[in-house]
Amino acid sequence: MGSPETTVSESTASALSNYTPQPMNFPKDFLWGVSTAAHQVEGGNNNQWSDWEAAGRIRSGDSCGRACDWWNNAEADFDLAQRMGLNALRLSVEWSRVEPDENRWDSTAIKRYRTALLGLRERGIQPMLSLHHFTHPRWFEADGAFLNADAGPTFERFTRRIVQELGDLCQNWVTFNEPNVYAALGYVLGEFPPGRTSEIATAVRVANAMARAHARAYHAIHELQPNARVGWAHNYVVFEPANPRSRLDRWTASLLSQLFNEIFLAAIENGRLEFPLNLADGDLASAKGTCDFVGLNVYSRFHVAFSPEKSSQLFADVFVPPDVPQGDCGVEKPYGEAYPEAIGAAVRRASRLGKPIYILENGVPDAKDRIRPWLIVNAVKQLHELIQEGHDIRGYFHWTLIDNFEWTEGWNLRFGLVALDPVTQERTMRKSGELYSEIARANALLPELIARFGDAQMGTR
Ligand code: BGC
Repeated sequence: MGSPETTVSESTASALSNYTPQPMNFPKDFLWGVSTAAHQVEGGNNNQWSDWEAAGRIRSGDSCGRACDWWNNAEADFDLAQRMGLNALRLSVEWSRVEPDENRWDSTAIKRYRTALLGLRERGIQPMLSLHHFTHPRWFEADGAFLNADAGPTFERFTRRIVQELGDLCQNWVTFNEPNVYAALGYVLGEFPPGRTSEIATAVRVANAMARAHARAYHAIHELQPNARVGWAHNYVVFEPANPRSRLDRWTASLLSQLFNEIFLAAIENGRLEFPLNLADGDLASAKGTCDFVGLNVYSRFHVAFSPEKSSQLFADVFVPPDVPQGDCGVEKPYGEAYPEAIGAAVRRASRLGKPIYILENGVPDAKDRIRPWLIVNAVKQLHELIQEGHDIRGYFHWTLIDNFEWTEGWNLRFGLVALDPVTQERTMRKSGELYSEIARANALLPELIARFGDAQMGTR
């Protein structure tokens, strides 16, 4: 008889040799989807972003043009999504098409959205509809957008009209896509219209006004459609102190996280923001509890160092270390670290609201599909672990189905599971598209996919 140690190690060895890795199964009815946005896929846009483009603000110099031609033929890509085995698709209504002039409604545009939603349902794909994904009519922008005192009622009026027209075909609503990104890029970084810079207090006012508009829309939708499920899509970023032992780096990272991640989210959770964000004007009490789910858009991690020279940027030096997994680079700066673990951080934060969670965007710009398979496998693995821990996650929507027009980066950054040639409109399935399709069809992550794509080495290729 051997020593106790030998016995233990022998039994462990024998257990390991008999061990067959098991599939990571997902709950029945889990949604495997893709997310899109009207401006990026429809083509022929006529909104405040069209003016931004005409003013030469797309860094790549590209124009959106026909985009993915969805206004004419989204259905070809719905067929593709169906063939891939996807059971959900998030799209947005382009407000500027539906209400091109204030209070003038375009019934042809509304009919087009009806056809699209019907098309999805006929293919067994559940639609989720966003009401605002960064774009809106020129007249709304000219009136000051969400800084106008009437923005809430105006957005509610638009919401009511859409729910009356389309509510029989859709029960899942995203009021706003990423109010924090809209406010930060439009009013602090100047990368989105209206292109204002360093106006942090204004950005907080914008996000607060959106939270109040969201609350109005939430109640209006429920009044018209009692079984509706209403949420918003929150962009969550991990801000990592560059030196975890430096108190100043930790303070700066946590300040950025509070500003970016807590805005809007805390308004919905508590009906108020913490100091110092609560110094911006406005009562947020109406926003408290106004969501049936939390949508999370999760992409990146940024490192943050305290920098005395950056007084105009809250003393924050925000950077992406060179040795971390990254997709393709933006025209002027890195897109960000591809960081699947960010999903865990975002879900743990969002779980505090006690509502079901959907990952409504996750992806990487990667024309050659170098690291997208690695990202997908590790994101899905992460989701499985979180569900095992008890988090109520109901779906994962990859960003995005086919390459589309990436805001200020134009055609420079490619996020599609399927590649698009915007000139010929030719589509080519990437291997990550095949991989995602395998996961969706199996409703599981199979061990051989983890073995093939899950390796940490792949992330840095
Ligand atoms: C936005 C998408 C965008 C994606 C990739 C998200 O923040 O909602 O519209 O294309 O990120 O950058």
